[in-house]
Amino acid sequence: MKALVLAGGSGTRLRPITHTRAKQLVPVANKPVLFYGLESIRNAGITEVGLVVGDTAPAIEEAVGDGSAFGLQVTYLRQEAPLGLAHAVRIARGYLGDEPFVMYLGDNFLVGGITELVRSFDPAVHDALVLLTPVPDPEMFGVAEVRAGRVVRLVEKPAEPPSDLALVGVYLFSSAVHEAAAEIKPSWRGELEITDAIQWLIDRGRPVASTTVEGYWKDTGDVESILEVNGRLLDRRGDETAVHGDVDAVSELTGGVRVAAGARIRRSRIAGPVDIAAGTLIEDCSIGPWTSIGEGCRLRGSGLRRSIVLAHASIAGAHGIESSLIGHCAEIASDGDRGAPRRTLVLGDHSKVRI
Ligand code: TTP
Repeated sequence: MKALVLAGGSGTRLRPITHTRAKQLVPVANKPVLFYGLESIRNAGITEVGLVVGDTAPAIEEAVGDGSAFGLQVTYLRQEAPLGLAHAVRIARGYLGDEPFVMYLGDNFLVGGITELVRSFDPAVHDALVLLTPVPDPEMFGVAEVRAGRVVRLVEKPAEPPSDLALVGVYLFSSAVHEAAAEIKPSWRGELEITDAIQWLIDRGRPVASTTVEGYWKDTGDVESILEVNGRLLDRRGDETAVHGDVDAVSELTGGVRVAAGARIRRSRIAGPVDIAAGTLIEDCSIGPWTSIGEGCRLRGSGLRRSIVLAHASIAGAHGIESSLIGHCAEIASDGDRGAPRRTLVLGDHSKVRI
């Protein structure tokens, strides 16, 4: 079996970060979200991966390379425009041949991996296996109507959902999906929808099975979801503090703080779970919980919680930063406004903000 990983798309919900950055490379717990998916694929015993890329191809290629760091053989498949998930299947036709495959959306996060799922799929029995999870707001998702384990209908973002079962961004297909992807027409939003391709199979009496996700799943396509996944991942590490960097005697670290080698903490309070990457300097700050700070950042006299700071950002004198996503090399400066109201910032790479 091969894997088809989708790392193109336009990422409109994550602007301004996605003006300069692939959303699949936004780090959660200081590791790009895409890497978790690639690891799940390898853990399921799959080694051949077709990676669909768009405008952000150079950054993805730089981060993933030939895949050998993950134990994978990665082949890049260029999608000229984000014309839909089924369009990605179309362009991968030659790469996939007639093999069954797992399709994995590169911005999706699934605790528990896909090993069982891959093992349970028999292309001789089913032409597709979709993964479902109950959600409180099904009108925001692709939704499935299931009878006796068989999917009878799929609808994309329905005004009146037939169930609360949303499609998770992992699908298994036999080669029959290629005929479906070739036959369907673009939807009202101009995309070739994977839900339409699966519905095409259902309409022709082809067997489409479903299974419900046991663990936590999230599409990290917007800021709130990324912060939630970041917090969950940090929580899962537990209360142990691991200091490989340099922490002075007056700093106070509590509950699940990781400080990478080469990071320095001075006169600060860090309330875990928090992850601090290599080469970062934190002075006179109050950080955490649920916060990840990337490599080479400079934080001085500031306070932040439940946030992600990308590499080489600097924050000076700013308090009350919460639920924020701060871009690569962004600069935040303030006159030292302790007691300031809570602030939520989403700053693109290289932004400069004076509060
Ligand atoms: P989406 O999040 O559904 O689409 P998007 O990336 O265009 O984002 P937004 O809705 O915020 O504008 O895409 C799911 C995954 O599939 C994501 O990793 C991007 C990828 N993708 C492609 O590779 N090609 C495509 O044509 C589309 C639509 C998405």
